[in-house]
Amino acid sequence: MLRTVILGTGSYAPAKVLTNADLEKMVATNGAWIVSRTGIEERRIAAPGESTSDMAAAAAKNALELAGVDPRELDLIIVATVTGDAQTPACAAFLQAKIGAENAFAFDVSAACAGSLYALSIADQFIKTGKVRRALVVGAETLSRVVDWTNRETCVLFGDAAGAMVLGPGEEEGRGLLSTSLRTDGTLTTILGIPRAYDPRQDGPTPGEAHKIKMRGREVYKVALRLLPEIVTEALAMAGLEAKDVDHVIAHQANARIIEASLAQLGVPLEKCWMNISRFGNTSSASMPITLDEANRAGRLKKGDVIAMMAIGAGMTWGGAVLRW
Ligand SMILES: CC(C)(COP(=O)(O)OP(=O)(O)OC[C@H]1O[C@@H](n2cnc3c(N)ncnc32)[C@H](O)[C@@H]1OP(=O)(O)O)[C@@H](O)C(=O)NCCC(=O)NCCS
Repeated sequence: MLRTVILGTGSYAPAKVLTNADLEKMVATNGAWIVSRTGIEERRIAAPGESTSDMAAAAAKNALELAGVDPRELDLIIVATVTGDAQTPACAAFLQAKIGAENAFAFDVSAACAGSLYALSIADQFIKTGKVRRALVVGAETLSRVVDWTNRETCVLFGDAAGAMVLGPGEEEGRGLLSTSLRTDGTLTTILGIPRAYDPRQDGPTPGEAHKIKMRGREVYKVALRLLPEIVTEALAMAGLEAKDVDHVIAHQANARIIEASLAQLGVPLEKCWMNISRFGNTSSASMPITLDEANRAGRLKKGDVIAMMAIGAGMTWGGAVLRW
């Protein structure tokens, strides 16, 4: 059976670091509160003029290099983002031009923090059916431009980054993406979102508030804890596996407490989960691919290891995936 394998991973984070101590000077917060409630110590902020597709291109180049794939070999590019360069064209089109992937068709997926998982699952369908041989999936966000920097309840949470995966058909039996499970509950659109499109040309504060992140944090927290363990269990069952078979968890890094409690419910030790929320905060669709890239480059993932993925975001959208490395 043809399965999708990950041929290479890559990531990019902008140079500017915004620490909790920096935030203490901007809003009425304190570092101890932020760390105890979220696990976040610092986050990265894109430079003025640095676009989402610039960051996506940097991550993509890393992933292509690791995979040994030339950009012209790509047949498909999917960018998961809620902060693309323009309302239209898609961020994926800007990215295609920047990396010279002239043979790829390219489009965006809007599924917030679950976007990379959705994009991975879409690319998987094209690869499994033989329509596509080389796909690039990127999660990239400049959330700093949609954060309300006067609202302490949200501004401490988010950061900018990009992560990428190069995918292709696997040749070894039993290896690759074993299952994906995606869900949406549109009755929850009011608990997390950005009501209006933002202006990507603006780097700093812009007039009006409708393009800023709005969140009812406590409700999001409860929903995440209810849905994440369930979807991972489902994805594992689809792959004929159980929680005890999991060697690594690659989780969307929204909140360390959400990850800890979800894994406790699943009965998977926290040591199996690569954590980087302390350094990046919540980077939405970029979060999962940068986490996978870090674990990969650290040599943590061994051939044959079972990896469970989980993510949840605005919509609410959520999903789980299982792959054998
Ligand atoms: C946002 C979140 C960290 C808040 O933690 P919480 O324990 O639910 O805290 P609450 O919202 O109940 O607020 C508790 C108190 O802390 C205060 N507070 C909120 N943000 C604060 C901050 N940055 N610094 C200091 N105090 C803060 C609140 O005003 C409140 O004060 P009060 O008790 O005087 O009213 C938590 O709800 C969360 O992580 N939710 C999920 C968010 C998420 O992951 N979103 C993205 C999903 S993809």
